Amino acid sequence: MEETRSSRPPRRRPPRTRARGHVDIHCHCLPAIDDGPTTMGEAIVLCRHLAADGITAVIATPHQLGRYGDRNSAAKVRAAAGDLNDALVAAGVPLRVLPGGEVRIDERIPELLAADEVVTLADRGRHLLLELPNEALINPVGLARRLALMGTAVIVAHPERCAPLRADPDRALAWLDEGIGLQLSAASLVGDAGSSAREICLYWLGEGAASVVATDAHGGLPGRPGLSAAFSAVSRHLGLTVARQAFLENPQRVLRGEEIAPPPMAAHAGIRA
Ligand SMILES: [Fe+2]
Repeated sequence: MEETRSSRPPRRRPPRTRARGHVDIHCHCLPAIDDGPTTMGEAIVLCRHLAADGITAVIATPHQLGRYGDRNSAAKVRAAAGDLNDALVAAGVPLRVLPGGEVRIDERIPELLAADEVVTLADRGRHLLLELPNEALINPVGLARRLALMGTAVIVAHPERCAPLRADPDRALAWLDEGIGLQLSAASLVGDAGSSAREICLYWLGEGAASVVATDAHGGLPGRPGLSAAFSAVSRHLGLTVARQAFLENPQRVLRGEEIAPPPMAAHAGIRA
């Protein structure tokens, strides 16, 4: 007998693991300003790649301080973001660029922020993306407390790159009580930085210590897994609720200059390889 529409079992939809409308809060997309693209053409290629991956807004975060000294002033970053926006409109790339910075840890940051020399994420004054050295751990708590008095919260960029934190990831859990967020790199979550970095990232997300996932992209990199691939990986391992907070809700909050919420506990479901 021919199966009728009403007698068929309802088709089960696969879980939605690819999200559109991402905000990328850490990206080196401005041309000729740091170790990102060297020309406007390369920057447009990178932005086209980001847009194709479902990203609709990107916070440009050129390096500030550290080895870049005072080369990338706030005024220079803002002007470069405006120029890139104009070029993207002309090229028909549906991506909005906002100014920001990846600021190397430095005890002068509060004074430089007050003097408008370093740029907060989306230029909102609410979150500062802080870069730590990879080989040594400089505790960011003292700086975070000083910035909190100015209404600015610290988000530590890619802590999984910091060797002392990889050796003892629980040290970063204590920062949660200080209002410090962790930004993980999408590439780390899909294994590009090795299995231990991936497992530590999943551990921090599962413990509610990591707030945001971003690309930290430096070039066009066609074919390289991006935010959507990492979103799928986190959805699979820790569930959609955790993934949506880290990839969608919290980046949107950063964009709007609102306080970020730590991802919900993943019920310690365990990391599945
Ligand atoms: Fe970066």
